[in-house]
Amino acid sequence: MKILQYPDERLHLVASRVDVFDEALKTLVSDMLETMYAAPGVGLAATQVDVQKQIIVTDLSENRDKPVVLINPEIIATSGRSYIEEGCLSVPGIFESVERAENITVSARNQDGEPFEIRADGLLSVCIQHEIDHLKGKVFVEYLSRLKQTRILAKMKKLARERM
Ligand code: NI
Repeated sequence: MKILQYPDERLHLVASRVDVFDEALKTLVSDMLETMYAAPGVGLAATQVDVQKQIIVTDLSENRDKPVVLINPEIIATSGRSYIEEGCLSVPGIFESVERAENITVSARNQDGEPFEIRADGLLSVCIQHEIDHLKGKVFVEYLSRLKQTRILAKMKKLARERM
């Protein structure tokens, strides 16, 4: 799948909840995982592949064989503060720290529609918060100062020109 590049307007679309858990959904999740691994990246939200559904995939394992799939994810508890450098497949080459919760509890559904909860800290916590933001139409660079955002936009425009 093609990953939308910042500042593509479609990255600001808000995703809808998934209420049909069928074969098409499983195919979509598997295509998203393939896209994330190929990029390569550690997380991908459906918004980034131009699908406005509340689906995120992540894999922080060393062997890239422990995918975490969260459908309709909702943060139900947070604690602490963390400040870890983040990157994004939609904003290549940019790495910046953003303030996040340190620990989170997330309720979500799996591909079969079964509800579950996951507690996360460290990188996984930051990654899930970053991806949930995508589903709300928010890209991490939008937390940065105006000056930094202007620089990032200039860099992205240059990259886009080079791709043409
Ligand atoms: Ni991202």
